[in-house]
Amino acid sequence: MKNIKILITGGAGFIGSNFIYHMIDKYPNYKIVCLDALTYAGNLGTLKPLMGNSNFKFVKGDITDREFVFNLFKEEHFNIVVNFAAESHVDRSIKNPGVFLNTNILGTQVLMDASREYKIERYHQVSTDEVYGDLPLNRTDLFFTEETPITTSSPYSASKASADLLVQAYHKTFKLPITISRCSNNYGPYHFPEKLIPLMISRALNDEDLPVYGNGENIRDWLYVEDHCKAIDLIIHKGRVGEVYNIGGHNEKSNLDVVKIILRELNKPESLIKYVTDRAGHDMRYAIDPTKINNELGWLPETKFEDGIKKTIKWYLDNKSWWKEILSGDYQNYYNSMHK
Ligand code: NAD
Ligand code: DAU
Repeated sequence: MKNIKILITGGAGFIGSNFIYHMIDKYPNYKIVCLDALTYAGNLGTLKPLMGNSNFKFVKGDITDREFVFNLFKEEHFNIVVNFAAESHVDRSIKNPGVFLNTNILGTQVLMDASREYKIERYHQVSTDEVYGDLPLNRTDLFFTEETPITTSSPYSASKASADLLVQAYHKTFKLPITISRCSNNYGPYHFPEKLIPLMISRALNDEDLPVYGNGENIRDWLYVEDHCKAIDLIIHKGRVGEVYNIGGHNEKSNLDVVKIILRELNKPESLIKYVTDRAGHDMRYAIDPTKINNELGWLPETKFEDGIKKTIKWYLDNKSWWKEILSGDYQNYYNSMHK
C-alpha cells in the first residue's frame, strides 16, 4: 500500500483523537500529523501514548494562521487533509459567536487554500447534521438526507453550514477534490465534559445536580465515536469526490432518557435531575438517514446505544484522572511541561 501522509486537524479534541488512534492502529505505514491549537477543548494528554511514535507528529498551531499553515503544507507534503478543528459547543456559540465564525469558516478557507496550493489528493471536511436544522418531535417518519435543505439554528451550526458551502464552492470553482461528512451526536472516550453525556456522567459521579434543558424531550441520534471514525476512514479512501455523506442512524433517544440511563448504570437517584432554562433556539430532533453511505460504502452504525453507553461509562470510571484534570484545569499544563 502507498505510503500516505495525513494531516488531521483538531486531533487533540474528542473525535479527532479517536480518529488518530483508529488510523494509527489500522494503517501502521501511514504518517499522521496532528495540527491543533490546543484551545480549551484540546487536550494533548489524550495523545500522550503516541508521543515518540515515528508515524506520528504533533504540531501546535492555529488553522486560521495562513502563513503557518502554508509552511506546514510546504514542509510535510500531505496526501490527505481531514479537518476536525472547530469550535464545537453550541452553548458557547450562543455566548460568543465570533470565534466560531473565525475558526470554523475562515480556518476552513485557509486549509483549502493550502490544499489547492500543495495539490492535496483529498480534502475531507468533518461537518454536522446540525446544518439541516431540526425535525419536529411528532414526525418520526422524517429523517435528514443529503438533500435536506440547509437551515441552521445556532451560530455554531451557521458557521459549520457556511464552511460546507465554501467547501462545495472550492470543489466547483477550483476543482479541489473534497468530500464532506455530516454526522449526528457522537459519544465515547475523550469526550469533553461540557457536552451532555460526559457532563452527566462526571456530575452524577460527584453527586451533583444534572442540568436538563427545558423538559428534556429533545431527541439526538447518538453515534458511538468509533463508528464515526470507521465511516470517515471509508469516505477518504473510497468516497466519491465532491460528495456529501450523512453518518449516523437509528439510535435516537430523548435527553431525559439518556440521563436516566446514565443514572441507572451508575446506581444514582433520579432526584439528581434538575430542569433548567432551555437553550435559546434549541433544536428539537436530529435523525440521520444513512442510506447513501450504506449503499455506496457499505457503512452502518455497529454499536447500539445500550452497548455504547455502557462502554462509555466504563471508560469514564476507568479514566477518572482524564476528566478530573479537565475539571481542575490541570490538563492545560501538559503542553507547557513538554516544551519548557
Ligand atoms: P472538540 O471541541 O472536542 O475538539 C476540537 C479540537 O479543535 C480541539 O482539540 C481544539 O483545540 C481544536 N481547535 C479549535 N480551534 C482550532 C484552531 N483555530 N486551530 C487548530 N485547532 C483548533 O470537537 P469534537 O466534538 O471532537 O468535534 C470535531 C469536529 O466534528 C468538529 O468539526 C465538529 O463540528 C464535528 N462534529 C462533532 C460532533 C460531536 O458530536 N461532537 C458531531 C458531528 C460533527
Ligand atoms: O449533532 C451533532 C452535534 O452534536 C455536533 O455538531 C456538536 O459539535 C456537538 O456538540 C453536539 O451538539 P448538541 O448541542 O446536540 O450536543 P450537547 O451535548 O451540547 O447537547 C445534547 C443535548 O443535550 C441538547 O439537546 C442539549 C441538551 N443538554 C446539553 C447540556 C450540555 C442539556 O439538557 N443539558 C446540558 O447541560
